[in-house]
Amino acid sequence: MSPVHVRAEPGDFAENVLMPGDPRRAKYIAENFFEEAKLVTEERGMLGYTGTYKGNPVSVQTTGMGCPSAAIITEELVRLGAKNLLRVGTCGGYHPEMELGDLVIATAATAQDGTVSSITQGIPYAPAAHFDLVHAAYHAAQRIAPDHTRYVGPIVSSDLFYDPEEDPQELWNSLGVLAVEMEAAVIFTLAAMHGVKAGCLLTVSDTIAAAGVERIEDSSLKNAVDSMMELALETLDALN
Ligand code: HPA
Repeated sequence: MSPVHVRAEPGDFAENVLMPGDPRRAKYIAENFFEEAKLVTEERGMLGYTGTYKGNPVSVQTTGMGCPSAAIITEELVRLGAKNLLRVGTCGGYHPEMELGDLVIATAATAQDGTVSSITQGIPYAPAAHFDLVHAAYHAAQRIAPDHTRYVGPIVSSDLFYDPEEDPQELWNSLGVLAVEMEAAVIFTLAAMHGVKAGCLLTVSDTIAAAGVERIEDSSLKNAVDSMMELALETLDALN
């Protein structure tokens, strides 16, 4: 039976799935990076497509914003047969040397959110990316984008884009956390619970410092995201 939100049937999705937050980015990925892309779900505007990359099946599915939405999508993708989930998104950079457009390969995601603690019933838990995806992403980045500045390490998944904390960079940077986004922790958690693999690649779209927040320009964001998509597809391809 088709899941409630990702309205599709088993077989409509590939085992390898890219997971952007934004439906327009899902469409852009399918139309520009897949061969023979086909729309497989559009329920609630959460667009999902399946096609091929270098001849191998691959899908892209919108998660929406925040862990509650990403949790629904992740659960349903796993029910539909997905095995390798790769979030592709943007983040706010906390590392003081980070520049707009830099790449982050997340190894772990602190769950500063309500969804993961609802799932774990509050027990201490460390959502982690699957080693195979971190390994594949790291080596693909070395191979195809050696000059693109990249950071590999922990991030935090927050419920808040507009954080009232006075100096979140000081707090998270002092803990070695590279960047903030809003979905990875629950994707990692649910993947681990269901015995599938998850990873996360991020483009730094904002740098967050006590002096203020800087936001990337649209054209630079497009170039950085294009390069991240190629890396994401090569990462999933390495798992075939
Ligand atoms: N906060 C949370 N998520 C984000 C940010 C941010 O500053 N930038 C991009 N995703």
